[in-house]
Amino acid sequence: MRRLKALTAQPLRGLRHDAMLDVLNYFDTKCRASKEITDRAKGRIPGGVQHNLAFNYPFPLAIEKAEGAYLVDRDGNTYIDFLQAGGPTILGSNYAPVNERVAEVVRDCGPVTGLFHEYELKLAEIINRFMPHVEMYRSLGSGTEAVMAAVRGARAFTGKKMVIKVGGAYHGWSDTMVYGLRVPGTYRMNAKGIPFGATARTREAFPHDLGQLKRKLVENRLRGGTAAVVVEPVGPESGTRPAPHDFNAKVRELCDEFGALLIFDEVVTGFRLGLGGAAGYFGVTPDLTVLGKAVSGGYPMAGGVGGRADVMAVFGSGLDGKSGAHIQVGGTLSANPLSCAAGYFAIEEMARTGAPVIAGRAGDRLTRGLQRLIDSYGLPYVAYNQGRSCTWSAAASCCWTCVTR
Ligand SMILES: Cc1ncc(COP(=O)(O)O)c(C=O)c1O
Repeated sequence: MRRLKALTAQPLRGLRHDAMLDVLNYFDTKCRASKEITDRAKGRIPGGVQHNLAFNYPFPLAIEKAEGAYLVDRDGNTYIDFLQAGGPTILGSNYAPVNERVAEVVRDCGPVTGLFHEYELKLAEIINRFMPHVEMYRSLGSGTEAVMAAVRGARAFTGKKMVIKVGGAYHGWSDTMVYGLRVPGTYRMNAKGIPFGATARTREAFPHDLGQLKRKLVENRLRGGTAAVVVEPVGPESGTRPAPHDFNAKVRELCDEFGALLIFDEVVTGFRLGLGGAAGYFGVTPDLTVLGKAVSGGYPMAGGVGGRADVMAVFGSGLDGKSGAHIQVGGTLSANPLSCAAGYFAIEEMARTGAPVIAGRAGDRLTRGLQRLIDSYGLPYVAYNQGRSCTWSAAASCCWTCVTR
């Protein structure tokens, strides 16, 4: 934290022009096929790519093969894959032991029937084995959906209205949560297309400012009470503003004092900081946990919400309970056999191989190596990691988070 503070106090520096030309030359000469196809994509796909992970200057790379820790692009260039799809592929890309088990399930029943399948239960059970506080679990389609559902569930359970998040944090793109995005204190700066009413009951507290969080909780008493405080336990933006170690425990105490639910958004940290997620890492128990990415082992439909059985009762669906007693959540393809089996086998395999621990060691090693380079060249960067998630921030107005395998 001290080094980060000193870094951000420095003036911004530009990149050296000749070094930049070297980089651009690589793309111009070695990545022609990527350029050709992504130029074509601009005509049919707004912006040319569909996810910000795929943005790349001067143009995106088109990937043809992924295997373990390596990627091969359309021009045949091979890369070490520090991105790992932004985190879901903890076992590495295209991991055959999981692929084969998933293929068996798909061979037997296809990707979806709309009816109950054993792997829905197996996934909920294995999550509960490693995250005992997730007593019940509801599978959904993405992290965004799961945050949306958690917030709705918290409001229904507590009967309160307000939601507090940490400024700068990304919790998906739902109307309620596109507030104070990326940069703390920016309120509705990114809320184009979202009506005022949709964010009227969202508040942001500055990262790790427990005094401000408490003040918001006090103010909210006059505004219908706080239903939930939503945090990324490692700090907003996957820990690019790392949280002090006791931060989550103190937020837990404040939530208990004010009768708000504590929601851990573990889309990034679930199974990655360890199989117990950030709750296990910090030893703090949330009321609700949002999972995404790794929960389907990199297969589609990665998301879900789980937690205390009494709170999760509001997610009851179908014939279980009186109509009107439950919140509306769902999705035709949610909890399909393909995603649930993929999640189940991936988590089982992560436990068998100790993958999060191995990845954590790789994160330590990468960080040490980066720090050595920073020190020996006197670069204006700070490198740190929380398990396998490794971040390096620069005084050149950029900040990278990378995930190691
Ligand atoms: C902390 C956090 N929450 C929620 C989300 C949204 O998840 P999804 O992209 O699956 O909608 C993300 C996505 O990166 C995330 O990092």
